[in-house]
Amino acid sequence: MSATGAKPLGATDEAAAAQAVRQMFDSIAPRYDLLNHVLSANIDRLWWRRAARHFRAILDRPEAAVLDICCGTGDMTMALLKLRPQGAQPVLAADFARAMLARGVRKFGQQARLSETPAGRTMQAPYAVPLEADALHLPLRDASLDLIVTAFGFRNLANYEAGLREFHRVLKPGGQLGILEFSEPGGFLGQVYAVYFHRVLPAIGRAICGKQGPYNYLPASVGRFPAPARMLDLMRATGYSACAWQPYTFGIAGLYTAARPTVL
Ligand SMILES: C[S@@+](CC[C@H](N)C(=O)[O-])C[C@H]1O[C@@H](n2cnc3c(N)ncnc32)[C@H](O)[C@@H]1O
Repeated sequence: MSATGAKPLGATDEAAAAQAVRQMFDSIAPRYDLLNHVLSANIDRLWWRRAARHFRAILDRPEAAVLDICCGTGDMTMALLKLRPQGAQPVLAADFARAMLARGVRKFGQQARLSETPAGRTMQAPYAVPLEADALHLPLRDASLDLIVTAFGFRNLANYEAGLREFHRVLKPGGQLGILEFSEPGGFLGQVYAVYFHRVLPAIGRAICGKQGPYNYLPASVGRFPAPARMLDLMRATGYSACAWQPYTFGIAGLYTAARPTVL
């Protein structure tokens, strides 16, 4: 594999990489949503919804314990919440960058806590509980979750294998994992997209957020991230079963799915 984890410019070890990532996201939090939507022409909304729909069977179960890790400003969390039934257990929404999470909390807070059923009963609308936490050291019990989803966060972990191991620890046997991440498509389209992703996108990012680093880091981090076949090997080697990757929008992004096996 070409990389064990994210390595922002200047970071010499995993602790420094994690700190640089956290500081970077804290610093771009006020502009993050705007930039996301501009740079992806709003396609990101379709990706979050599509990823959530993949797990509809679990999300439908009111008692299912669900974590959105690296939730950032909470758009993946909101897509998950839309598929939760009335009265369901809250979705845990975790991130280690406080400024990103604070923006997420504003979105979850807009969810009405109570709503009326057609029969006139008052029920609790699906909601999220924010958690400031590091994906590599989750403050959660072993085998406690039915579903972990992460959108565009996994690539930023300082150690991918450690992240997969930590998710495996907290998933129940039979629990499912979904990792929505960018990738680099091949072929002619890939070449055209590469020009956009490596040249145009950093320039727009710089113009809107006024900083150079984060939008140089984005294409660099996608370039370092394992290609789908290698990522699937890593997931299998970490003990997951039913590992698969589904490309979204010509492979610009894609959803990795896997399960913690029921029998070890
Ligand atoms: C690109 S943003 C994605 C946010 C959101 N999921 C979305 O789809 O817009 C990546 C997020 O991952 C978070 N993150 C990166 N490494 C993390 C870690 N080790 N633990 C918790 N959060 C982490 C960052 O703070 C940031 O908010």
